[in-house]
Amino acid sequence: MSPSSLAVVVLAAGAGTRMKSTTPKVLHPLAGIPLIGHVLATAEALGPQQTLVVVRHEAERVREAVEEYADDAQIVHQDDVPGTGRAVELALEAVGDDVDNVVILSADVPLLDSETIEAMLGFHRDAAAEVTLLSTIHDDPTGYGRIIRREDGTVSHIVEEADADEQQRTLQEVNAGVYVARRDALAKGLPRLDTANAQGEKYLTDVVGQLAADSGLVHAVVVEDSWLVEGVNDRIQLQAMQRRLNTMIVRGWQRDGVSITDPESVWIDLSVQLDQDVTVLPGVALEGSCHIDHGATIGPDCTLSNARVGQGARIQRSVVDSAVIAAGATVGPFSYLRPGTVIEEGGKVGAFVETKNATIGKAAKVPHLSYIGDADIGEGANIGAGSITANYDGVNKHRTVIGPHAKTGSDNVFVAPVEVGAGAYTAAGTTIRRNVPAGALAVAPVSVRTVEGWVGTHRPGTASAEAAENSRTTPDSQ
Ligand code: UD1
Ligand code: CA
Repeated sequence: MSPSSLAVVVLAAGAGTRMKSTTPKVLHPLAGIPLIGHVLATAEALGPQQTLVVVRHEAERVREAVEEYADDAQIVHQDDVPGTGRAVELALEAVGDDVDNVVILSADVPLLDSETIEAMLGFHRDAAAEVTLLSTIHDDPTGYGRIIRREDGTVSHIVEEADADEQQRTLQEVNAGVYVARRDALAKGLPRLDTANAQGEKYLTDVVGQLAADSGLVHAVVVEDSWLVEGVNDRIQLQAMQRRLNTMIVRGWQRDGVSITDPESVWIDLSVQLDQDVTVLPGVALEGSCHIDHGATIGPDCTLSNARVGQGARIQRSVVDSAVIAAGATVGPFSYLRPGTVIEEGGKVGAFVETKNATIGKAAKVPHLSYIGDADIGEGANIGAGSITANYDGVNKHRTVIGPHAKTGSDNVFVAPVEVGAGAYTAAGTTIRRNVPAGALAVAPVSVRTVEGWVGTHRPGTASAEAAENSRTTPDSQ
C-alpha cells in the first residue's frame, strides 16, 4: 500500500456535551494546542493523499482551527443525522476513487502517535483485513465501546456502553475509536446503518459488526499503553491528560539539561524551546513560542507567553507577554512586560514596573514602580523610582525618548511626545513637557512654601508638636 492510496478522516462534529462548555470540545487546549491540532499533526505525519475533517457543532470555529493546523485539509459538514457512522458516510463521499484505505481518527483522542497508526496500517495490510481497529485494556472501561471477539481472535462486533448488557460491561477491552478500513468496505457498510440503538445515532461501530458478519476480516490491534488512546469527554479526563502530557514534556526537558525544581507546579507548552542549564523554579507557566537561552533562570511564580529570553537572564515573579529579554537582563519581582517590550543586554526592569512597546537599552535601568510605554530608554540610562511615560493624549499614543546615560529623577512624568537628551538629568518630581537638551538639568521651579512654627500653633499638644519642640531645645539636634 503506497501512502498515496490513503485518506484520513478526522471526526470532529460532536457537540462535546459532557464538557459543559461554550467552547467546542475539540478546541480545548492541551499543552497550548487544541485537541484537534494534535490529531491533525498526527494525520499529517501519515502523509495521506487527502485529509477530511467532519464538522457540525460550532462548525465555523472548528473550521478556523483546522485551517490553522492543517491548511490543506478538506472540511465536510455533517447533517442533522447524528453519529460517528453518519460522519464517516458523508466524508466518504469526498474521498477519491483511487483511495484504497481510509484511516478514521477521533479529534478527541489527541495523544495517539503516528507510529502506532503506522503499526495498525502494517497489520491491516499484512492480514488483508477489511477493517483493523485499535483497542486497549482498561481497568475501568466505563464509557467506551466494548470489543467482542470471536474464538479465532478476530473481532465479532462492538457494543457501546449504553447498549451493553451487564455481562458485556465487564469486558475490559475497549474500542479506541481509531480505525483503518478499506474504502470499498466502508462504501458497502455505511449506507446500511440505522439509528436503532440506545442513543438514536448511526454508530460507526456497527459497520464493524456488519462487515464481520459478512465474513469480512476485522482485526483489533491492542495498544499496550492505554493512555495513548484515551479519549477526552469531560474536564476531568482533559485535566488528567494535561497533567500526563505536561509530566512528559517536563521530563523531556530535564533529560535535555534543564533544571526544573518542582515539576508539579511548572507547565510548559509543546511549542516552547529551552536551552541547556536553564533553571525553572516553582510556579512557572511557559506558553506559546517561548525560547529561553542557556543559563537563564525563570521563577518562582512567572507566566511567560511568546517570550524570547537571552543567556543568563533572570526573571522573578513576573508576567511577560510577547517581549524580548536579552542576555544578562533582570526582570522583577512583580513586573508586567507587555507586547513590544525589548530589554537589551544587561538591562533591568525592577519591582512593580509595567512596560509596553518600549525598548530598555543596554544596561539601562527602570528599577522601581514605573510605567514605561511607547518609549526608548537609551543605553546606560537610569529612570528614577515612580516615573510615568504619559503616552496617551486621549486620542493617539506618542513616544518618549530618553537618551543614553541620562539620569531622570524620582517621580517624573514624561508627557509624550518628548525627548530627554544624552546624559541629561531631570530633578525629582518634575513633569517633563518639553525636550531636554543633551547634558542639561531639567528642574521645575520650587514652589514649596514653609510656614515656620505652624505645627506648634495649629497642633499644640500633639506628639508632632512635642517632637518639634524637643528638636529646638536639644543642643545636639543642630
Ligand atoms: C466512540 C465510539 C466508542 C469508543 C470511543 C473511543 C462510536 C459509536 N463509539 O464513543 O466505541 O470506545 O469513541 O473514544 O463510534 N463525532 C462526529 N459526529 C457525530 C458524533 C461524534 O463527528 O455525530 C465525533 C466527535 O466529535 C468525536 C468522535 O466523533 O471526536 C467520537 O465521538 P464521541 O461522541 O466522543 O464518541 P464516544 O461516545 O466517545
Ligand atoms: Ca469520545
